[in-house]
Amino acid sequence: MAVTRTFSIIKPDATRRNLTGGVTKMLEDAGLRVVASKRIQMTREQAEGFYAVHSERPFFNDLVTFMISGPVVVQVLEGEDAVLTNRTVMGATNPDNADEGTIRKTYAESIEANSVHGSDSDENAAIEIEYFFKPEEIVG
Ligand code: CMP
Repeated sequence: MAVTRTFSIIKPDATRRNLTGGVTKMLEDAGLRVVASKRIQMTREQAEGFYAVHSERPFFNDLVTFMISGPVVVQVLEGEDAVLTNRTVMGATNPDNADEGTIRKTYAESIEANSVHGSDSDENAAIEIEYFFKPEEIVG
């Protein structure tokens, strides 16, 4: 396995409940290293662009409104097979289906307020990292 990078968002439901540290601890305990991190308030345009792939889905408008309802923490995570490692520790999108010990089982409130986002492929990780970070903001 190779050391790779993935992109993560700690979502507004988690920042609102002061869970930035709790979520990050679970990511680190899973073997991931935070090599870039910033707390931002996304604009509607930014959120719509980020989730453009979902623009035809019925939940798109609610998803965008939720993602701009408070600050988020965007992160670049590095580790062995980072995309898969992160997806495993995040758990299923719907917390009702997430395994015990995962971030979403532990913290998520609903399928929308599900505490974290993580890239689903190396290709999308690269696109998503570039969407929020300049190369010099990532320090491994
Ligand atoms: P995320 O990994 O950020 O990618 C898209 C998000 O849409 C997903 O997590 C969910 O939080 C959100 N979402 C809201 N409703 C649904 C749904 N019915 N199916 C899938 N994703 C949903």
